Amino acid sequence: MTETPTDGKTSHSRKTVFSGIQPSGIVHIGNYAGAIRTWANMLGEYDCTFCVVDLHAMTVPYEPDQMRRRIFDTFVLNMAAGLDPERSRLFVQSHVPEVAELCWILMNCAAMGDLNRMTQFKEKSERVSGHINAGLFTYPVLMAADILLYKAEVIPVGDDQTQHLEFAREVARRFNTQFGDTFPEPEPLFSDVPRLMGLDAKDKMSKSLDNYISLLDDEGEVWEKLRTAATDPARVRRTDPGTPEICNIFTMHRVFSPPQDIEWSADGCRTADIGCIDCKKCLARNMNEELDPIRARYAELAAHPERVRELMDEGAARCRAIARATMEEVRQKVGIR
Ligand code: TRP
Repeated sequence: MTETPTDGKTSHSRKTVFSGIQPSGIVHIGNYAGAIRTWANMLGEYDCTFCVVDLHAMTVPYEPDQMRRRIFDTFVLNMAAGLDPERSRLFVQSHVPEVAELCWILMNCAAMGDLNRMTQFKEKSERVSGHINAGLFTYPVLMAADILLYKAEVIPVGDDQTQHLEFAREVARRFNTQFGDTFPEPEPLFSDVPRLMGLDAKDKMSKSLDNYISLLDDEGEVWEKLRTAATDPARVRRTDPGTPEICNIFTMHRVFSPPQDIEWSADGCRTADIGCIDCKKCLARNMNEELDPIRARYAELAAHPERVRELMDEGAARCRAIARATMEEVRQKVGIR
């Protein structure tokens, strides 16, 4: 299917999907396989909106110049990796300022008791030095506003967002009870792609731990990182048989390789017919085959920043049309119009 989203007019048959993307500026292969690639596969079946959440990113310390760069890079990377603006809406959160108004209104449907229980707030506030700002505390209300502004029904997220999603449902229920049926209760959708561990195979792949392969690493970098990546520690010598199920490289094969290569690497590892280097070479080939077109699209887009600005404006304009309609309804219902 190649039809474009109908901007909320006649899309009753397709469920509304919304998700937010942190403007971290890099996308690693774990983010890509677990989120972007899964979302790109939903474009035909759902009415999809994806948002680079710059307002959320402001709740922890940052440099303004870096923020500008990261918003741009994240937008372009997500587009290059498959979030096609012809088949979905991709936009930057702050470009649709209605979200801040809805956030304020929803603030009054949010319980302090619920916010106090948020584990992500506890974790993040332990990491910041100095005062903890109110934005970090009310982060989940802004996330609820993101979702409800677009009346989204299905929210593809990582399992670290379960509590925030339950909170958004609660806010929707409170609003609906107090002011009449307005918002659907958003359902989380969890990816079935295995979560990739970092190259060290100790922690999950993450930007801050520097144990990742970036979507923009070139073929040489991909190979160098895979070559030195941790494997099943039982395979000390090439002749030692291994256990693919506990090897991070095998998990990567399951995410990036075709079925015959997955089988080949599993069998070869168990029987010690292949060494880790053979196995990694095959993986590098498959990974590069998938990343090549993404790197090329990224380079093409990044070379034309004016075109990227236009695409950002177009995405925001389409989202704003929906946001305006929701806000008119909301202002009426809460009694300020
Ligand atoms: N909090 C989400 C995260 O850190 C990002 C996000 C912001 C989001 N707004 C959203 C996700 C709305 C889903 C829906 O990953």
